[in-house]
Amino acid sequence: MSESDRFNTIAGWTLAAGIVIFGLRAVSNGYFGADKVHAPKEEAAAAGGGAAAVPIETLLASADPAKGEAVFKKCASCHTANQGGANGIGPNLYGVLGDSIAAGRGGFAFSDALKGKGGKWDFTSLNEWLTNPKGFAPGTKMSFAGLSDPVERANLMAWLNTQGSNLPLPAAPAAPAAGAAGAAGGTAAAAVVGDAAAGEKSFAKCKACHTANPGGANGIGPNLAGVYGDSVAQGRGGFAFSDALKAKGGKWDDASLDAWLTNPKAYAAGTKMTFAGISDPQERANIIAYLKTAK
Ligand code: HEC
Ligand code: HEC
Repeated sequence: MSESDRFNTIAGWTLAAGIVIFGLRAVSNGYFGADKVHAPKEEAAAAGGGAAAVPIETLLASADPAKGEAVFKKCASCHTANQGGANGIGPNLYGVLGDSIAAGRGGFAFSDALKGKGGKWDFTSLNEWLTNPKGFAPGTKMSFAGLSDPVERANLMAWLNTQGSNLPLPAAPAAPAAGAAGAAGGTAAAAVVGDAAAGEKSFAKCKACHTANPGGANGIGPNLAGVYGDSVAQGRGGFAFSDALKAKGGKWDDASLDAWLTNPKAYAAGTKMTFAGISDPQERANIIAYLKTAK
């Protein structure tokens, strides 16, 4: 674990503890009525942006390895996972959970980017890697967009774990502690509180294609004034959205914006937003906070 990972973990615990305390206080005030068991969890989920806040530990507890084996078809053009299987475009993955990152694997020639990560593959790091390989290790030679569906990732990890690793599954958090365990696992990243001023600075990365002032022009991408809470890929002065993004439906909220900005191509395969994504959850939260003010 790197120093900054450790910091993030500690920050996550601290934040999550705050959310849980808030949730418990809300319960004792009777705010959530009779639904006491679920209230703190819902509070954490609301703060964390809905589905994005379901801890991977919870998903792993109900993961289906058979479905995960089917998901592995997406990896099989580059990877084997059986004992003694050959390296191909990617390394053989037998026993990879619990093993050192980018080491061994029959002498596979890993990129410096992945070798530079250090540490071991556990459910947290593997979950991040499979969400967005380029976000996890910028410069990696694994040219795979990532799996945006957390349930798919959980199923896949549960199956990979049966291929020579057999690590104990992380304990699924009890309901009142859901926020804490999720953040500690590094997956409730959306629970990070955004800073709109910092987000405005980060928005420099978007300005080649977007304006965000009311009445601003569309460019390569649509004007984003009032996009928070608005329908996905609609209006915006008649901007010609891709069918991929139009097909998503729904509205832009914390969870959908967080998923989109993490990895646009994984969120809407075929989107015409050619932007790799932002891997830092804090930076995404900042930009989302800024977008809320841009109207
Ligand atoms: C297009 C080819 C390709 C696809 C598809 C692909 N990978 Fe990879 N994978 C690679 C390459 C190349 C590397 C080495 C990356 C590096 O060194 O930067 C790699 C590395 C890895 C590693 C790190 C292994 C280690 O020992 O550190 C894991 C784990 C992994 N891939 C899992 C998967 C899974 C699971 C999928 C499917 C969801 C997948 N990959 C899809 C090519 C691919
Ligand atoms: C290289 C150009 C480019 C960059 C850089 C870029 N975008 Fe986009 N963006 C687009 C395009 C093109 C679309 C339309 C996508 C489609 O229709 O598939 C889009 C769509 C969007 C949408 C959806 C709007 C709607 O009404 O549904 C949001 C939100 C968004 N971008 C936010 C951002 C943010 C925030 C950044 C910076 C972190 C960013 N984009 C960086 C080109 C870009």
